[in-house]
Amino acid sequence: MTKVRLKLEEVHKTYPDGLVALDGVSLSVEEGEFVTIIGPSGCGKSTLFNLIAGLDLPGRGKILLDGREIAGRTGLVGYMPQKDLLLPWRTVLENLILGPELAGEPRERARREALEMLPWFGLEGFTHSYPATLSGGMRQRAAFLRTVLCHKDVMLLDEPFGALDALTRAQMQVWLLDLWERLRRTVLFVTHDIDEALLLSDRVYVLSARPGRVRSEMAVRLARPRRLEMVTTATFMQMKKTLLETMELAAPAALAANGKPDRTPQTGAVG
Ligand SMILES: Nc1ncnc2c1ncn2[C@@H]1O[C@H](COP(=O)(O)OP(=O)(O)O)[C@@H](O)[C@H]1O
Ligand SMILES: [Mg+2]
Repeated sequence: MTKVRLKLEEVHKTYPDGLVALDGVSLSVEEGEFVTIIGPSGCGKSTLFNLIAGLDLPGRGKILLDGREIAGRTGLVGYMPQKDLLLPWRTVLENLILGPELAGEPRERARREALEMLPWFGLEGFTHSYPATLSGGMRQRAAFLRTVLCHKDVMLLDEPFGALDALTRAQMQVWLLDLWERLRRTVLFVTHDIDEALLLSDRVYVLSARPGRVRSEMAVRLARPRRLEMVTTATFMQMKKTLLETMELAAPAALAANGKPDRTPQTGAVG
Protein backbone atom coordinates (compact mmCIF):
# COMPACT_ATOMS: atom_id res chain seq x y z
CA MET A 1 0.00 0.00 0.00
CA THR A 2 1.36 3.39 -0.94
CA LYS A 3 1.04 6.21 1.50
CA VAL A 4 0.58 9.89 0.71
CA ARG A 5 3.32 11.92 2.40
CA LEU A 6 2.72 15.40 1.09
CA LYS A 7 -0.63 16.79 0.04
CA LEU A 8 -1.56 20.27 -1.15
CA GLU A 9 -5.20 21.26 -1.33
CA GLU A 10 -6.22 24.35 -3.29
CA VAL A 11 -3.20 26.39 -2.25
CA HIS A 12 -3.46 30.10 -3.07
CA LYS A 13 -0.81 32.76 -2.65
CA THR A 14 -1.15 36.48 -3.19
CA TYR A 15 1.88 38.61 -2.36
CA PRO A 16 1.36 41.80 -0.29
CA ASP A 17 1.77 43.90 -3.45
CA GLY A 18 -1.34 42.21 -4.88
CA LEU A 19 0.44 39.84 -7.26
CA VAL A 20 -1.41 36.52 -7.45
CA ALA A 21 1.33 33.86 -7.66
CA LEU A 22 -0.68 30.67 -7.09
CA ASP A 23 -4.35 30.15 -7.78
CA GLY A 24 -5.48 26.90 -6.20
CA VAL A 25 -2.73 24.29 -6.54
CA SER A 26 -3.60 20.74 -5.49
CA LEU A 27 -1.12 17.89 -5.69
CA SER A 28 0.18 14.93 -3.74
CA VAL A 29 3.42 12.98 -3.36
CA GLU A 30 3.54 9.40 -2.15
CA GLU A 31 6.16 7.69 -0.02
CA GLY A 32 9.36 7.14 -2.01
CA GLU A 33 7.95 8.85 -5.08
CA PHE A 34 9.87 11.25 -7.34
CA VAL A 35 7.42 13.91 -8.47
CA THR A 36 8.26 16.90 -10.66
CA ILE A 37 6.54 20.21 -11.09
CA ILE A 38 7.18 21.77 -14.46
CA GLY A 39 6.01 25.18 -15.55
CA PRO A 40 7.10 28.40 -17.21
CA SER A 41 9.40 30.82 -15.47
CA GLY A 42 7.54 32.99 -12.96
CA CYS A 43 4.52 30.67 -12.60
CA GLY A 44 5.05 30.29 -8.86
CA LYS A 45 7.15 27.14 -8.48
CA SER A 46 9.62 28.61 -5.98
CA THR A 47 6.73 30.33 -4.21
CA LEU A 48 5.09 26.93 -3.81
CA PHE A 49 8.27 25.46 -2.33
CA ASN A 50 8.64 28.36 0.11
CA LEU A 51 5.10 27.64 1.29
CA ILE A 52 5.74 23.90 1.72
CA ALA A 53 8.98 24.64 3.57
CA GLY A 54 7.07 26.95 5.92
CA LEU A 55 9.05 30.07 4.97
CA ASP A 56 5.90 31.88 3.83
CA LEU A 57 2.17 31.40 4.41
CA PRO A 58 -0.50 30.55 1.83
CA GLY A 59 -3.53 32.83 1.63
CA ARG A 60 -5.89 29.89 1.39
CA GLY A 61 -5.61 26.14 1.10
CA LYS A 62 -3.98 23.33 3.01
CA ILE A 63 -0.44 21.95 3.12
CA LEU A 64 -0.38 18.53 4.75
CA LEU A 65 2.58 16.34 5.66
CA ASP A 66 1.50 12.86 6.72
CA GLY A 67 -2.00 14.22 7.15
CA ARG A 68 -1.02 17.12 9.42
CA GLU A 69 -1.23 20.80 8.52
CA ILE A 70 2.32 22.21 8.28
CA ALA A 71 1.77 25.71 6.83
CA GLY A 72 4.18 28.14 8.50
CA ARG A 73 6.25 25.38 10.14
CA THR A 74 9.90 25.14 9.17
CA GLY A 75 12.36 22.28 9.57
CA LEU A 76 9.97 19.46 8.62
CA VAL A 77 11.07 18.90 5.02
CA GLY A 78 14.51 19.09 3.39
CA TYR A 79 14.72 22.09 1.08
CA MET A 80 17.32 22.89 -1.54
CA PRO A 81 16.42 26.39 -2.71
CA GLN A 82 16.97 27.56 -6.29
CA LYS A 83 20.08 29.53 -5.33
CA ASP A 84 22.65 27.23 -3.73
CA LEU A 85 23.24 29.62 -0.82
CA LEU A 86 26.58 28.11 0.18
CA LEU A 87 28.20 30.45 2.69
CA PRO A 88 31.33 31.80 0.98
CA TRP A 89 33.28 32.20 4.22
CA ARG A 90 32.78 28.56 5.23
CA THR A 91 34.62 25.57 3.78
CA VAL A 92 32.73 22.79 2.02
CA LEU A 93 32.68 20.69 5.19
CA GLU A 94 31.56 23.64 7.33
CA ASN A 95 28.78 24.32 4.84
CA LEU A 96 27.71 20.69 4.86
CA ILE A 97 27.18 20.52 8.61
CA LEU A 98 25.18 23.75 8.73
CA GLY A 99 21.80 22.00 8.99
CA PRO A 100 22.69 19.68 11.89
CA GLU A 101 24.56 22.58 13.51
CA LEU A 102 21.54 24.87 13.40
CA ALA A 103 19.41 22.03 14.73
CA GLY A 104 21.75 21.82 17.72
CA GLU A 105 23.08 18.35 16.89
CA PRO A 106 26.61 17.32 17.93
CA ARG A 107 29.13 18.77 15.44
CA GLU A 108 31.40 15.74 15.58
CA ARG A 109 28.72 13.32 14.45
CA ALA A 110 27.65 15.66 11.66
CA ARG A 111 31.27 15.97 10.49
CA ARG A 112 31.75 12.22 10.48
CA GLU A 113 28.61 11.64 8.47
CA ALA A 114 29.45 14.42 6.01
CA LEU A 115 32.90 12.91 5.44
CA GLU A 116 31.38 9.47 4.82
CA MET A 117 29.01 10.87 2.20
CA LEU A 118 31.53 13.13 0.41
CA PRO A 119 32.74 10.49 -2.08
CA TRP A 120 29.16 9.75 -3.22
CA PHE A 121 28.85 13.39 -4.10
CA GLY A 122 32.18 13.62 -5.91
CA LEU A 123 33.54 16.07 -3.36
CA GLU A 124 36.42 14.09 -1.88
CA GLY A 125 39.54 16.21 -1.83
CA PHE A 126 37.49 19.40 -1.51
CA THR A 127 36.60 19.07 2.17
CA HIS A 128 38.50 22.20 3.17
CA SER A 129 38.01 24.18 -0.05
CA TYR A 130 35.87 27.30 -0.20
CA PRO A 131 32.74 27.38 -2.39
CA ALA A 132 34.25 29.97 -4.76
CA THR A 133 36.86 27.42 -5.88
CA LEU A 134 34.26 24.79 -6.91
CA SER A 135 32.73 24.25 -10.35
CA GLY A 136 29.00 24.84 -10.84
CA GLY A 137 28.24 21.11 -10.72
CA MET A 138 30.24 20.67 -7.53
CA ARG A 139 28.50 23.58 -5.83
CA GLN A 140 25.16 22.01 -6.66
CA ARG A 141 26.27 18.65 -5.30
CA ALA A 142 27.54 20.32 -2.12
CA ALA A 143 24.24 22.16 -1.67
CA PHE A 144 22.42 18.92 -2.34
CA LEU A 145 24.51 16.97 0.16
CA ARG A 146 23.83 19.66 2.72
CA THR A 147 20.11 19.09 2.16
CA VAL A 148 20.53 15.30 2.43
CA LEU A 149 22.41 15.72 5.73
CA CYS A 150 19.40 17.46 7.26
CA HIS A 151 17.87 13.97 7.52
CA LYS A 152 14.46 14.80 6.21
CA ASP A 153 12.90 12.01 4.22
CA VAL A 154 10.77 14.39 2.15
CA MET A 155 12.95 16.67 0.04
CA LEU A 156 12.17 19.69 -2.12
CA LEU A 157 14.68 20.37 -4.90
CA ASP A 158 14.18 23.66 -6.75
CA GLU A 159 15.79 23.60 -10.22
CA PRO A 160 19.02 22.13 -8.87
CA PHE A 161 20.56 21.88 -12.36
CA GLY A 162 19.06 25.03 -13.86
CA ALA A 163 22.29 27.00 -14.06
CA LEU A 164 24.50 24.21 -15.44
CA ASP A 165 25.67 23.68 -19.01
CA ALA A 166 24.02 20.84 -20.96
CA LEU A 167 26.79 18.28 -20.50
CA THR A 168 27.22 18.85 -16.77
CA ARG A 169 23.47 18.81 -16.45
CA ALA A 170 23.22 15.39 -18.12
CA GLN A 171 25.97 14.05 -15.85
CA MET A 172 24.14 15.40 -12.81
CA GLN A 173 20.87 13.80 -13.94
CA VAL A 174 22.55 10.39 -14.22
CA TRP A 175 24.17 10.94 -10.85
CA LEU A 176 20.88 11.97 -9.21
CA LEU A 177 19.08 8.92 -10.64
CA ASP A 178 21.71 6.66 -9.14
CA LEU A 179 21.61 8.46 -5.81
CA TRP A 180 17.82 8.38 -5.65
CA GLU A 181 17.82 4.62 -6.31
CA ARG A 182 20.03 4.24 -3.22
CA LEU A 183 18.37 6.73 -0.87
CA ARG A 184 14.76 6.34 -2.05
CA ARG A 185 13.67 9.53 -0.38
CA THR A 186 10.43 11.18 -1.29
CA VAL A 187 11.26 13.98 -3.70
CA LEU A 188 9.35 16.95 -5.06
CA PHE A 189 11.46 18.45 -7.83
CA VAL A 190 11.12 21.63 -9.88
CA THR A 191 12.40 22.14 -13.39
CA HIS A 192 11.44 23.92 -16.58
CA ASP A 193 13.15 21.22 -18.66
CA ILE A 194 10.76 18.63 -20.11
CA ASP A 195 13.43 15.96 -20.80
CA GLU A 196 14.72 16.28 -17.26
CA ALA A 197 11.21 16.00 -15.80
CA LEU A 198 10.44 12.82 -17.75
CA LEU A 199 13.82 11.18 -17.24
CA LEU A 200 13.80 11.59 -13.47
CA SER A 201 10.19 11.36 -12.37
CA ASP A 202 7.47 8.91 -11.52
CA ARG A 203 4.89 11.63 -12.08
CA VAL A 204 4.89 15.12 -13.54
CA TYR A 205 2.55 18.02 -12.77
CA VAL A 206 2.35 20.78 -15.36
CA LEU A 207 1.64 24.25 -13.99
CA SER A 208 0.07 27.02 -16.03
CA ALA A 209 1.67 30.41 -16.49
CA ARG A 210 1.13 32.76 -13.54
CA PRO A 211 -0.98 32.52 -11.55
CA GLY A 212 0.12 28.91 -11.25
CA ARG A 213 -2.45 26.16 -11.18
CA VAL A 214 -2.18 22.50 -12.16
CA ARG A 215 -2.97 22.08 -15.86
CA SER A 216 -2.30 18.37 -16.06
CA GLU A 217 -0.68 15.42 -14.40
CA MET A 218 1.21 12.62 -16.14
CA ALA A 219 2.47 9.26 -14.89
CA VAL A 220 5.87 8.48 -16.43
CA ARG A 221 5.74 4.83 -17.43
CA LEU A 222 9.44 4.17 -18.02
CA ALA A 223 11.22 1.28 -16.33
CA ARG A 224 13.71 1.88 -13.52
CA PRO A 225 16.61 2.10 -13.25
CA ARG A 226 16.46 4.90 -15.78
CA ARG A 227 19.23 5.56 -18.26
CA LEU A 228 20.02 8.68 -20.26
CA GLU A 229 19.46 6.78 -23.55
CA MET A 230 15.78 6.41 -22.65
CA VAL A 231 15.18 9.92 -23.96
CA THR A 232 15.43 8.47 -27.48
CA THR A 233 12.70 5.82 -27.06
CA ALA A 234 9.31 6.08 -28.73
CA THR A 235 7.52 6.04 -25.35
CA PHE A 236 9.63 8.97 -24.17
CA MET A 237 9.02 10.95 -27.37
CA GLN A 238 5.27 10.41 -27.11
CA MET A 239 5.19 11.63 -23.51
CA LYS A 240 7.33 14.61 -24.46
CA LYS A 241 4.94 15.50 -27.27
CA THR A 242 2.00 15.37 -24.87
CA LEU A 243 3.79 17.64 -22.39
CA LEU A 244 4.80 20.08 -25.13
CA GLU A 245 1.18 20.28 -26.22
CA THR A 246 -0.05 20.78 -22.67
CA MET A 247 2.46 23.59 -22.22
CA GLU A 248 1.42 25.01 -25.60
CA LEU A 249 5.00 24.83 -26.81
CA ALA A 250 4.33 22.51 -29.75
CA ALA A 251 4.64 24.17 -33.13
CA PRO A 252 1.33 25.23 -34.70
CA ALA A 253 0.24 22.97 -37.57
CA ALA A 254 1.22 25.45 -40.31
CA LEU A 255 4.75 25.66 -38.94
CA ALA A 256 5.16 21.96 -38.30
CA ALA A 257 4.30 20.92 -41.86
CA ASN A 258 7.36 22.31 -43.63
CA GLY A 259 9.35 23.87 -40.85
CA LYS A 260 8.55 27.45 -41.83
CA PRO A 261 5.46 29.63 -41.99
CA ASP A 262 3.36 29.04 -45.13
CA ARG A 263 3.66 32.70 -46.10
CA THR A 264 6.73 34.81 -45.47
CA PRO A 265 5.57 38.16 -44.09
CA GLN A 266 6.44 40.96 -46.52
CA THR A 267 8.31 43.92 -45.19
CA GLY A 268 8.25 47.40 -46.64
CA ALA A 269 11.83 47.27 -47.82
CA VAL A 270 11.83 44.65 -50.54
CA GLY A 271 14.92 44.48 -52.54
N1 LIG B 1 8.44 38.16 -2.30
C1 LIG B 1 7.75 38.44 -3.41
N2 LIG B 1 6.97 39.51 -3.49
C2 LIG B 1 6.24 39.80 -4.59
N3 LIG B 1 6.25 39.03 -5.71
C3 LIG B 1 7.04 37.94 -5.68
C4 LIG B 1 7.83 37.57 -4.55
N4 LIG B 1 8.50 36.42 -4.84
C5 LIG B 1 8.14 36.09 -6.09
N5 LIG B 1 7.27 37.00 -6.60
C6 LIG B 1 6.63 36.96 -7.91
O1 LIG B 1 5.79 35.81 -7.93
C7 LIG B 1 5.81 35.20 -9.20
C8 LIG B 1 6.25 33.75 -9.05
O2 LIG B 1 7.63 33.72 -8.69
P1 LIG B 1 8.40 32.37 -8.45
O3 LIG B 1 7.64 31.57 -7.46
O4 LIG B 1 9.80 32.70 -8.12
O5 LIG B 1 8.28 31.69 -9.89
P2 LIG B 1 9.09 30.46 -10.55
O6 LIG B 1 9.89 29.81 -9.46
O7 LIG B 1 8.03 29.57 -11.11
O8 LIG B 1 9.95 31.04 -11.63
C9 LIG B 1 6.74 36.03 -10.06
O9 LIG B 1 5.96 36.93 -10.81
C10 LIG B 1 7.60 36.76 -9.05
O10 LIG B 1 8.07 37.97 -9.57
MG1 LIG C 1 11.90 29.46 -9.27
